[in-house]
Amino acid sequence: MSVILAIESSCDDTSVAICNNGKITANVIANQTIHQNYGGVIPELASRVHQQNIVPAVQQALINAKVTKQDINAVAFTRGPGLLGSLLVGVSFAKSFALALNIPLISVNHMHAHILAHFIDDPKPNFPFICLTVSGGHTQIVLVKDYFDMEIIGETLDDAAGEAFDKTAKLLALPYPGGPLIDKHAQHGNPLAFKFAEPKIADLNFSFSGFKTSILYFIRKQEKENPNFIAENLDDICASVQHSIVQILLNKLKKAAEQYGIKEIAIAGGVSANSGLRNGLQQTADELGWKVYIPAFQYCTDNAGMIAIAGYQKYLKQDFVGQDVSPMARMEF
Ligand code: KG4
Ligand code: ZN
Repeated sequence: MSVILAIESSCDDTSVAICNNGKITANVIANQTIHQNYGGVIPELASRVHQQNIVPAVQQALINAKVTKQDINAVAFTRGPGLLGSLLVGVSFAKSFALALNIPLISVNHMHAHILAHFIDDPKPNFPFICLTVSGGHTQIVLVKDYFDMEIIGETLDDAAGEAFDKTAKLLALPYPGGPLIDKHAQHGNPLAFKFAEPKIADLNFSFSGFKTSILYFIRKQEKENPNFIAENLDDICASVQHSIVQILLNKLKKAAEQYGIKEIAIAGGVSANSGLRNGLQQTADELGWKVYIPAFQYCTDNAGMIAIAGYQKYLKQDFVGQDVSPMARMEF
């Protein structure tokens, strides 16, 4: 029997989940809207809002899961990577909670957890599988051999795919985080209206920095000829940018699958909520005979459900950390 309380506070969402014998019975996510005014996450504001959100989120999670504090057997928390001030709130809360109840602490790597989100619901992928993890901070292709035996076989050399979405949205004067808004506008636009060159990057790696600059120059050039270019073409710009990003991601994923001879393919991280990526992945799967795995929406973006399921796997191995554990801005994968 195990009831695990999990805390995720690596960026701008405060999330608390409960895992009861391997089943997620609560996944509370308190979003921080304050960053919308600034076009990106302000770390100092994020940690302050985490402090306000964390206790109510824990209380709500206990209510949703129909358990009390005394039922909890271990506390799992995100130890990194993430914003140091944000992580500190989660780790400090987790340590105090564990100390007060005299229960073990479990540290979880945020990127592992995004991948292990596939083990929350059915169908679950079979090992080994390849996972494309695409978020606001990371873009990685990971060979997943077991729950905690993972190898990064490709990653971005600069910006993450989520940043390419968010920074394009900023150029288009859409509020932060712009990824979901680009997705929304893209559904009404023509993906082939404008063409953006695919970066030529060796192996299974990515680069989105030059791609983002090419969009900036393209928009500037068009606006010289027509100052209303963005307003008049918003849907087509969004559809074309989204189509290009999705093609970049899928082409590398195809290369990885072929190189490793694997047909079990998963996607994880906030960008896996993107409808263009989901559709493109399904289409590629039909063509190449892949079996694809996409977590439910609430487990794609940052959430404590994924920390809880990773924590559960560590609990089964009695893999605990002491009260002297440090929160780290960047953890080894
Ligand atoms: O995994 P996540 O919640 O946080 C990080 O660990 O970064 O990912 C957030 C990222 C943001 O860049 C956001 O714009 C992007 O995921 N995102 C999307 C969509 N939903 C979230 N990007 C494109 N289309 C979406 N539907
Ligand atoms: Zn994340």
